[in-house]
Amino acid sequence: MSTDQIDWETLRKAAVDAMKRAYAPYSNYSVGVAAYVDDGRIISGCNVENASYGVGLCAECGLVSQLHMTGGGKLIAFSCVNGDEDIIMPCGRCRQLLYEHSAPGMLLETVSGIRTIDEVLPDAFGPRDLEEYAR
Ligand code: THU
Repeated sequence: MSTDQIDWETLRKAAVDAMKRAYAPYSNYSVGVAAYVDDGRIISGCNVENASYGVGLCAECGLVSQLHMTGGGKLIAFSCVNGDEDIIMPCGRCRQLLYEHSAPGMLLETVSGIRTIDEVLPDAFGPRDLEEYAR
């Protein structure tokens, strides 16, 4: 699947559906995310908080787990919404998480329009930086 086939409305609807599954009793801030994988399937995730606050999982953690649980591949498009169904930015840590699993040129629906992963995480540290050190 190529990036010109992305149906952003469908993707956002999947993110909203995921957001409705969020477990966020502490922040009361539900988050849902969804992504197209390069084979055309849509995956999603919601945030799951914890009484031990720091252990809470961002919605992107669930999404990446689902990516691998359902066959792997690379992310080509991503959308993130809050409980008001507004588009929000993935947090810094989650941009790194997304970068690891992104196809080159992966697109994100952001508060300032469609942007690439390189625009939202410039000069990223990633798997290629470790290649020559791998044993
Ligand atoms: N949150 C996410 O799930 N993803 C993000 O990219 C931003 C923040 C969650 C974490 C926490 O459960 C709640 O939003 C408030 O920070």
